[in-house]
Amino acid sequence: MEILSALLVGLLATTIQAADYYNPIKNNSADPFMVYDQGNYAPTVAQLATAPKNTVFKSTNTSYDQDYWAPEVHNFDGTWYIFTTAASSTANPVDSSRRIHVLKGGSTPAGPCTYAGQIGANVPGDQWAIDPTVLFDRGNHYLVSANGAQSICIGQLNGPTELLNRVVISTPTADWEKNGLPVNEGPSAVYYNGRTFLSFSASLCATPQYSLGILAYNGGGILNPSSWTKSGPLFTSANGDYSPGHNGFVLNPGTTQDWWQVFHATPNSGGGCDASRNTFFQKVNFDSNNLPVFGQPEAPGGPYDGPSGE
Ligand SMILES: *[C@@H]1O[C@H](CO)[C@@H](O)[C@H](O)[C@H]1NC(C)=O
Ligand SMILES: *[C@@H]1O[C@H](CO)[C@@H](O)[C@H](O)[C@H]1NC(C)=O
Repeated sequence: MEILSALLVGLLATTIQAADYYNPIKNNSADPFMVYDQGNYAPTVAQLATAPKNTVFKSTNTSYDQDYWAPEVHNFDGTWYIFTTAASSTANPVDSSRRIHVLKGGSTPAGPCTYAGQIGANVPGDQWAIDPTVLFDRGNHYLVSANGAQSICIGQLNGPTELLNRVVISTPTADWEKNGLPVNEGPSAVYYNGRTFLSFSASLCATPQYSLGILAYNGGGILNPSSWTKSGPLFTSANGDYSPGHNGFVLNPGTTQDWWQVFHATPNSGGGCDASRNTFFQKVNFDSNNLPVFGQPEAPGGPYDGPSGE
């Protein structure tokens, strides 16, 4: 009895402690994406720093064996798929071959994957592409990504490996999107009270003005650029975190619209597109108009209150 209650207290203490986390949650880790599945972040946010790394795929085909950038894992009918960009080791220059590829996993997001195919080659205007993500709206899946003009594109998916079309819904035209170079990239979908939003990153990552904006879907044709309203910058360098961007949204366990975000930022005041970028985790709020509110990037350190019930 004595031993049992000591054990229970020990477990309880672990559970309570696990709710706290320190930022950054992972060092030298850009373009983060996170899902919560079957009781696990890793199992907690704080434990991500020391969680073992799984190699889930290694290409043996030189048509797509270089530079797997910004992979994301998404679920289709109970099976997990990884969407990533990859380039060829033989094309000259290598990066011109950069396209989006899909890997098929299994019933858990961290399992081994097999190659499922390149996506979008059949759609007119096929070109250099990065930062794929999946948006879900009214029963349909859409692939959202950035193209060679560093604009945000959306197209409807027929299952995880077939893209039906592709349109540009955001180009970097405002001053805050053009520091260093005109850039829109790193889209990620979030949903709140019936609204659908895409966050994205603007300006060049090598400038401290790299920041997050939002595309708000206002109804109407989701592939119609005029159905989207852009606002920004909404999340900018602060508190020793520079060039915050390429975020991903993840739910608090057991909730349907209690959102957190992961994003990267660098401690270098000049900004950076390099390995100095670290992964941060923090709460996302929404205002009375149901629009996302990011606040400022949290300072390195903590402890911060983590997700409830993780
Ligand atoms: C990241 O690096 C800093 C500075 O070296 C270190 O204090 C911190 O513990 C590291 N964080 C993680 C999650 O490994
Ligand atoms: C490698 O990928 C290319 C492009 O998808 C394909 O045409 C080729 O058959 C693949 N090679 C092998 C050995 O599988």
